[in-house]
Amino acid sequence: MNKDQLAKVAQAMVARGKGILAADESSGTIKKRFDAIGVESTADTRRDYREFMFRTQEAMSQYISGVILYDETIRQNAKDGTSLVKLIEAAGSLPGIKVDAGVKPLPNFPGETITEGLDGLSERMAEYYKLGARFAKWRAVIDIADGIPTRGAILANAQALARYAAICQANDIVPIVEPEVLMDGGHTLERCYEVTEFVLKTLYDELYEARVFLEGTVLKPNMIVPGKKCATQATPEQVAAQTIRVFKQTVPVAVPGIAFLSGGQADVEATANLDAINKMAKLPWHVTFSYGRALQAAPQKAWSGKEANVVAAQKAFSHRAKMNGLASKGEWSKSLEG
Ligand code: 13P
Repeated sequence: MNKDQLAKVAQAMVARGKGILAADESSGTIKKRFDAIGVESTADTRRDYREFMFRTQEAMSQYISGVILYDETIRQNAKDGTSLVKLIEAAGSLPGIKVDAGVKPLPNFPGETITEGLDGLSERMAEYYKLGARFAKWRAVIDIADGIPTRGAILANAQALARYAAICQANDIVPIVEPEVLMDGGHTLERCYEVTEFVLKTLYDELYEARVFLEGTVLKPNMIVPGKKCATQATPEQVAAQTIRVFKQTVPVAVPGIAFLSGGQADVEATANLDAINKMAKLPWHVTFSYGRALQAAPQKAWSGKEANVVAAQKAFSHRAKMNGLASKGEWSKSLEG
């Protein structure tokens, strides 16, 4: 393990004013996104879509520190034959790769899941490094409902995340550790806090047990928000106060950065919440974004599969990247949305 390189890459991923583009939708997920804009999902349309994002000079060179790719994408070439990985590198951004194999029901734990993909991971990681990946992502999913999550399911998922992180680092790849507490239910903000606190405490215990080098990791968590179906929603200031509080209780200062998932928040909402967190306090971590939907919803809609719309879609992507870049410094305001 090259600790200097791991620490440098982790710091670059959370460099001031920049964040990560999560473009690692599996073929099933990107099909859902394309269905919504009336675009057929084929290897070529997926390539065309991602190519125009990676060719968006303003967003990629100024606001996007790294891009999480899917297995198909890291192997794809742009229309002119340049690899998509090269496009990302040419913009000064880092290529990364989603390596988990998705979630499966966890036997004996009704309603809960375990993320799979550890078998053969070391060999896959070595190949991804050769293909240009300098960081990776593994997402564990924790749902909140009656009687769940359980301690057993949280522990199983934290152990898998820790095994994954150790395998990444053995291959000189920085692990993004993503324990996502879903915001789909009707639970309160307080319940989200309580569950997230336990999840993060368990995760950092397991990372310690697995001897993971924390300086060479990035945390990708949820914010502390009420469930979407909860009658009482929260202001950005309330979200920020509880999100900061939970990290102070659980995340070691050795971790260089925290890059949030958007998790179903509307795009401007995700920006406003990130901004409120960075405005509220001087934090020991760089706190930024690793958004999928909150960065891509606007460009997807603007594009709608038409070549003629590419310039407008790139503008929409640059705008959201810029707004989130500002929010990562606590310098965003609603008036900038235009
Ligand atoms: P969202 O920002 O759309 O939640 O996606 C981020 C991600 O990578 C989830 O694993």
